[in-house]
Amino acid sequence: MSEQTLFKVTVDNIAIEVPAGTTILQAARQIGGAVAPPAMCYYSKLQGSGGKCRTCLVEVSKGSEKDPRPMPKLMASCRTTVMDGMEVKNITSEKVIDARAGIVEFLLLNHPLDCPICDQAGECHLQDLSFEHGKSSTRYEFQRRTFKKHDLGKHIQLHMTRCILCYRCVYVADQLTNQRAHGILDRGDHAEIATHIEKSLDNDFIGNVIDVCPVGALTDKTFRFKNRVWFLKPMDAHRDCPTCSGRVTLWNRGDEVFRVTARKDQWGEIEDTPEGKPGWICNTCRFDKKHAADWVIEGPREINRHSVIAQGHYAGNVGTTLPTETFKAVNDGRAPHLLMDIHHESEVNLPSIHLSEIAGPSHGTTFKQNSKNA
Ligand code: SF4
Ligand code: FES
Repeated sequence: MSEQTLFKVTVDNIAIEVPAGTTILQAARQIGGAVAPPAMCYYSKLQGSGGKCRTCLVEVSKGSEKDPRPMPKLMASCRTTVMDGMEVKNITSEKVIDARAGIVEFLLLNHPLDCPICDQAGECHLQDLSFEHGKSSTRYEFQRRTFKKHDLGKHIQLHMTRCILCYRCVYVADQLTNQRAHGILDRGDHAEIATHIEKSLDNDFIGNVIDVCPVGALTDKTFRFKNRVWFLKPMDAHRDCPTCSGRVTLWNRGDEVFRVTARKDQWGEIEDTPEGKPGWICNTCRFDKKHAADWVIEGPREINRHSVIAQGHYAGNVGTTLPTETFKAVNDGRAPHLLMDIHHESEVNLPSIHLSEIAGPSHGTTFKQNSKNA
């Protein structure tokens, strides 16, 4: 058997070797942390996904060892495969940061600012992106799009005004269920998610559209408006399910189960089962098993994604683990390239400087004076 060809690629000055055929996004995810570009439409567990939203744009400053010319335009990292010797800039590129802010503004053109009443708030990828790159106001002066309401049945609520047309839910219906009943109708600024003639989405695994939707366009009717996610305690649980893996996250308040979702990884995607298959869950587990007695509770779930729901959960509570503070652990296993001792640069932190003894706001000369007097 021939050996796998490995390509060396550098993302934000960090080099990694990945098999030929790996996309820039996947290579950056292997490095981890902030080096990985955001992805609103790509979903590694859905074939054909990606290439729709442009949030994952990166700058390719060197095409490859053989052809070192930079790529003339920013590239969608989820759809561009690496070449040997390629050099990529993500957060180290001003062009990328600028373009991403533009994409966020574009995605928000028609998006309602209803986070305060949206069930996705706290775990919404668009909310995180707009927090990181967005502006506090809009330049858009026209009326936002409105839609005729479509009823998708008793389990799933569609808010088309929030949809960013990422196609993930369409791929879920295509790849996981027996028959797709919804899709994107029309094109351009008329495009919308709908069933052709009012149909309910009730195929066995269709509830997974809720988990893959990066925004609050598809939400769980059995959970709607019942609670904010940051008030709930995520618990890993499982049951012996004849249809799916039965491995879920329960979102509890006290003993009450408010909602059931699949388990998600640090990229906000469905986690794999121990057998290495995507842990999609069936409608019965998601919508019908809402009693703690239905489940074997494994313990608190650690939320990996940086998000408001990861804040303040469990750290230091009884039976929980405090986050590790070492640099390597919080930096996805990477050691720092450079560490500066602040004492070489400033005397602010010297134990001999007593901040309480400094009259008024302190500045550089205060410290210089104090250290001379000391
Ligand atoms: S409803 Fe959600 S998952 Fe479906 S296309 Fe819109 S944003 Fe994507
Ligand atoms: S994640 Fe790459 S284009 Fe959307």
